[in-house]
Amino acid sequence: MTEQHVYPVPEALKQKAAIDADTYQSLYRQSVEQPDAFWAAQAETFLDWQEKWHTVCKSDLRKGEVAWFLGGKLNVSVNCIDRHLEARGDQTAIIWEGDDPSEDQLITYRELHEEVCRLANVLRERGVKKGDRVCLYMPMIPEACYAMLACARIGAVHSVVFGGFSPDALKDRIQNADCQVVITADEGVRGGRKIPLKTNTDKALAECPDVHTCLVVKRTAGDIQWEDSRDVWYRDAVEAASPECEPEWMDSEDPLFILYTSGSTGKPKGVLHTTGGYLLQAAMTHKYVFDQQEGDVYWCTADVGWVTGHSYIVYGPLANGATTLVFEGVPTYPDAARCWEVVDKHGVNSFYTAPTAVRALMGAGDDFVKRTSRKSLRILGSVGEPINPEAWEWYYKVVGDERCPIMDTWWQTETGAHMMTPLPGATDLKPGSCTKPFFGVQPVLLDSEGNEIEGAGEGSLAIKASWPSQLRTVYGDHQRCIDTYYSTYPGYYFTGDGARRDEDGYFWITGRVDDVLNVSGHRMGTAEVESALVLHEQVAEAAVVGYPHDIKGQGIYAYVTPMTGVEPSDELKKELISLCVKEIGAIAKPDIIQWAPGLPKTRSGKIMRRILRKIAANELDSLGDTSTLADPAVVDDLIDNRANR
Ligand code: WT7
Repeated sequence: MTEQHVYPVPEALKQKAAIDADTYQSLYRQSVEQPDAFWAAQAETFLDWQEKWHTVCKSDLRKGEVAWFLGGKLNVSVNCIDRHLEARGDQTAIIWEGDDPSEDQLITYRELHEEVCRLANVLRERGVKKGDRVCLYMPMIPEACYAMLACARIGAVHSVVFGGFSPDALKDRIQNADCQVVITADEGVRGGRKIPLKTNTDKALAECPDVHTCLVVKRTAGDIQWEDSRDVWYRDAVEAASPECEPEWMDSEDPLFILYTSGSTGKPKGVLHTTGGYLLQAAMTHKYVFDQQEGDVYWCTADVGWVTGHSYIVYGPLANGATTLVFEGVPTYPDAARCWEVVDKHGVNSFYTAPTAVRALMGAGDDFVKRTSRKSLRILGSVGEPINPEAWEWYYKVVGDERCPIMDTWWQTETGAHMMTPLPGATDLKPGSCTKPFFGVQPVLLDSEGNEIEGAGEGSLAIKASWPSQLRTVYGDHQRCIDTYYSTYPGYYFTGDGARRDEDGYFWITGRVDDVLNVSGHRMGTAEVESALVLHEQVAEAAVVGYPHDIKGQGIYAYVTPMTGVEPSDELKKELISLCVKEIGAIAKPDIIQWAPGLPKTRSGKIMRRILRKIAANELDSLGDTSTLADPAVVDDLIDNRANR
């Protein structure tokens, strides 16, 4: 399939969608030529403000300083709930679909309001104040959404930790953000299996003495330990609390949440997002990218533990008064027809998922899709990694019956919301391209000297001017924020991605240019996995790279040098895998471990990952220059003993 293959905007959408090609052109021009006027108008349209801002934007990318709608006051939960009550109190806000297909629940905006207010009161009664951090370690149940919104209601800052992370990873995040309250569940349920969330939390909290309250949702009624002085059943507390709760009026720049994400060095960093700008861009992109219409049912399959869940399960859709589907399970359980059965069951109009899921479902065969109707679907979405043209075509033809355009949305935890994406009524599609920038976003390609590349070309992807949902800092470490995003190319935000722009101005993400892996759409720092591996007393050194993986996009390939005298064994491999699971979580399991008597290093001792990546990818004829290696023989050994795939 070549990139010449263009899929024009469907006629039906050209007429009906909010933004057509001409409108996109003119609005985009306005958004970059007169950003203040453009964003002020959008902020009026999309959000309700308690007090209006006095300054639209103040930013200095050299210092990593960004602020939007200064002086404005609003509350995110009011924007996501209260303001909809009059017109849509009885409309479904959340459709919950359980892991078990026989379990579901509809929650109206009025019920959502009551749940959120009650929980907000519980948090307040337990001493949580504006600015305090609350950690959420939850399965995909409605309470996860209630908890995020309850924090927002009282101005507490949530830090959601993905339920697949290990107790150690949870502990690090609780400590880093100095959380004193944790909300979790007894167990999670995914794909028919139980996840011991409370037990994991207990292990983490053993080293978090400052946590005075742990609210526990009873999901499975499984066996758990209980600490009377700290643990509280969520339902008991909520039922005893008042269903009315005055919102805290937040400054536009007050923090809304912290979300940890992996980088190329050290421990994950806490990306901090604030209130007004974040909510505006989440709402606006949700509306325009999914062509959200009154009454539409919208489903994003992400987990609330990732930014996609924050912006496109909770905040964007609810700010727009949409019906958002929250799915507890996995796309392949009970079988690979699950997603399409859920689409038919609830009449889903837009469906947003990751390429890794598309590839897994494609592998299961067309029959699972074809036995369902999917007639309600209008828009499809993709996020998390580049979607290969084969998967794109299958998604378009088999799932969407050639009727539903695919929105390939490029963005990051740090960008908070979509940055480059097609719009359904405006953009002709090329499979594998995230197409064009969203309003107000100015992507540039930089060469190795940091000069902007004009026209068609390839380089490092950077963003030239601030956008509303930009990260504001790395929690507790602004210098790290500057070093990571603003110092490589002064004056720009550096994304860590490489990209190509074609003759039509379409962008194609070529992947990370740093030591960050993308495994099944999840970010993983090679350094994190390496740190876990070298904790083993029989390991001298480890180097981790990504390699092409049919389903996951990238797999984790670890080269491990055992201590002198240690005999490599399958037993040791198993121990190393468990160590990664313990330190980080199951998503960090190496797919391949290769024993490496030595690692390719420069004479100054720097590991040459370029070579390790080539060996892992089996691209042996393009190893490049190996003459600068301290010991070139190391490479021959690695090649001879490379893993079979
Ligand atoms: C990295 C960000 C954005 C929410 C999910 C991941 C890659 C993301 C795409 C896309 C090509 C993509 C990039 C980016 N990525 N979306 N549509 N096409 N690559 O968020 O964990 O912060 O990861 O995911 O490499 O930098 P994240």
